[in-house]
Amino acid sequence: MSKEIMVSGIQPTGTFTLGNYIGAVRGWARLQDEYDCAYFIADLHSLTVRMDPAQLRAQSLEAYALLLSCGLDPEKTLLFVQSHVPTHAEMGWIMSCYTQFGELSRMTQFKDKSAAHADNINAGLFTYPSLMAGDILLYQAHYVPVGEDQRQHLEITRDIAQRINSVCGDVLRVPEAYIPKTGGRVMSLQDPSKKMSKSDENTNAWITIIEDPKVIVNKFKRAVTDSEKEVVFREGKDGINNLMVIYSSVTGKTMEEIEREFEGKGYGDFKVAVGEAVAEELAPVREKYNDLMKNRDYLNEVMKKGDEAAYKISVRTLSKLKKKLGLLV
Ligand code: TYM
Repeated sequence: MSKEIMVSGIQPTGTFTLGNYIGAVRGWARLQDEYDCAYFIADLHSLTVRMDPAQLRAQSLEAYALLLSCGLDPEKTLLFVQSHVPTHAEMGWIMSCYTQFGELSRMTQFKDKSAAHADNINAGLFTYPSLMAGDILLYQAHYVPVGEDQRQHLEITRDIAQRINSVCGDVLRVPEAYIPKTGGRVMSLQDPSKKMSKSDENTNAWITIIEDPKVIVNKFKRAVTDSEKEVVFREGKDGINNLMVIYSSVTGKTMEEIEREFEGKGYGDFKVAVGEAVAEELAPVREKYNDLMKNRDYLNEVMKKGDEAAYKISVRTLSKLKKKLGLLV
C-alpha cells in the first residue's frame, strides 16, 4: 500500500523563527519516512505584501537551504519553489472561483494583515486562502502539517474541496490539518499574548533558527514573564507557559518533569536552561545552513529536480479537474 500524503509550505519572508520550527518544519523532517511528503517555499503568497525584489530572491534561496538544514532530505521528500511550478497559480485561479466572498471576509489572517498593511489591501491578500487551498489539493494531501494559526485556512480548504467534489464527483481529497499537540502556537518572548512572528519589529520577541547561541540565551534571559517565582504551567502565566512549551518541545520532557526539575529554583535558572536547550537543538541546523549556502550550485540543482517532479505530480490533478469542470482539454 502506498503511504499517505503530507503537504505544506512556508513563506520566504525572513529566516525561519523558532515558532516556524517547532510548529511546523521540525515535524516535517520527522514525518518524511512515514509519509509521502511535499514541502515548498510559498513565494507567490509573499507577493501579497510588498517586498524588495532582491530581498525576496535572496530569501527564497535561503529558505530553501533552511528546509534542507532542518533535516528534509530531497531524496525522500519533494522540495520545491511554488512559483517554479505553474500548476499552483492555475489551480489557485480555479479555487478562487469556488471560494465565496463571505468566506474570505471572515479569515482572521486577512483581517490582521489588512489592518497591518492598510495602504495595500490587494486582491491577492484577500484570495490568499484560495491559492493555499490549491497548493494542498493539487497533491491529494491527506494531512497538512501546520501551526495553529493556519487552522482556519485548512477549514476553508476542506470546504472548497467538498464544494468542488459535490459539483464534479470525488476529484479532490479532503485534507486534514496536522497540528502538534505541544508547540502549535509558540508565542512572542516579549509579549506572550501574541504569536512569535518574523514580522515583529522587536527583535527580542523572536529567535531565528540560525541565530548565534549567545544571542539565543540572551533573548531567553530577557523573556517577559510575571512577578511570581515558581516554574509551573498554570493559567495566567502566559510567559512561563510559553517557555515551558518551548523547553518541552526541544527536550521531550513533560510539564510535570519540568516543574520538578525547577522546583525551588527561580525564573533566572529556568530561562538560561531553556536558552541553552534551544541553542543546542539548533546548532546542527546552523552548521548545515552555513555549509549549504557555500554551495549554491548544489541548491539550484536539487531545487530544479524538486520543481520538475512537483509539476509532474500536480499536473495530473489539475488536468483531471479542468476536464471535469468543462474546460476544453
Ligand atoms: P508561514 O510562512 O507564516 O509559516 C510557516 C509555518 O510555521 C507555522 N508557524 C508557527 N507555528 C507555531 N508557532 C508560531 N509562532 C508560528 N509561526 C508560524 C505556521 O503555522 C506554518 O505552518 N500560509 C502559509 C504558507 C502556505 C501553506 C500552503 C501552508 C502557503 N500554502 C499550503 C500549508 C499548505 C504561511 O503563511 O505560513
